[in-house]
Amino acid sequence: MKKLLIAVTALAVLGGTAVTAQATPQQDLKKLRAHYFKKFPGVKLQEYGNGIYAIDEARRFEWEASEEFPPYEEAIEIGKKLFKKYKVGSCFKNGGIGIKQNFPYFDKKTGKVRTLEQDIMACLKKNGVDTKKEKLKYKKGKFAAISAYMAYTSRGNKINVVVPNDPAALAAYEAGKQYFYAKRGQLNFSCANCHVDSPGLLIRGNLMSPALGQVSHWPAWRKKWAKKTFKKKGKVGPLGGLGTLQRRYGGCNKQVRAKPAKAQSDTYRNLEYFHTYISNGIKLNGPAVRQ
Ligand code: HEC
Repeated sequence: MKKLLIAVTALAVLGGTAVTAQATPQQDLKKLRAHYFKKFPGVKLQEYGNGIYAIDEARRFEWEASEEFPPYEEAIEIGKKLFKKYKVGSCFKNGGIGIKQNFPYFDKKTGKVRTLEQDIMACLKKNGVDTKKEKLKYKKGKFAAISAYMAYTSRGNKINVVVPNDPAALAAYEAGKQYFYAKRGQLNFSCANCHVDSPGLLIRGNLMSPALGQVSHWPAWRKKWAKKTFKKKGKVGPLGGLGTLQRRYGGCNKQVRAKPAKAQSDTYRNLEYFHTYISNGIKLNGPAVRQ
């Protein structure tokens, strides 16, 4: 009897893994790439780091012109000063220079995904910075400038996100993937509906980019964000158009009238984990200008 019970339990466990382990991260990456390469023949892997500008020549022309005198240039300088002032480098490998390609990562101790922004915030607190008083908040402003400087020092490094063979890491990856493929909002669209099924098509006059490479260039400078700052403050300033990847996630949630998750919540961190993993091998090119 005891033997039978053990056999049944073992079967149940095996059955369970068979169901949850549909595809490995590596298989997801391969499948998605094959999909885009078929959809956009001639667009090389590294080109995907340029978003819609990899697939639309007219828009690319305009974009290249704007990158010649980039509106984020001063933000990088400001970020560098703050990075030094708050001794952010002291909390990171290699003094925080050229390391963004390894984020986000799975943290064994907490069993959770950690992002670069989270580690920057933890560092500021560790170094005794009064983040409230200094108005250092996730998503934009001075905080995004620090992240922009760190991104800048990592330009050219290939994204190298690791999903270790650990059940908690795989579960985090899977949760991010689920979020990416789940329909939501009044419009009932998933991220994949727009960025896997429809890149190259227009939605309300906006061309949609492939999900592959979408993570390569953050924080980004957007005219839309600059306009928003102008409306609120009557001026833009060097940081007014800047925002992090998770700020952008919020914008895409709002587009389909879904409630955005909080910046650096488990939800968005897991999403960022999946979303960045599938772009492994693409060179970082942030910060950048985006529509
Ligand atoms: C209704 C369609 C739609 C949905 C759904 C949608 N997006 Fe977007 N997304 C857009 C459009 C349009 C843009 C602006 C053009 C572009 O760069 O793709 C955009 C831009 C982005 C960008 C910036 C790309 C870049 O190169 O700067 C990211 C990142 C992004 N979306 C991620 C997501 C994620 C993650 C989800 C799901 C939570 C999502 N989007 C859902 C339409 C959508």
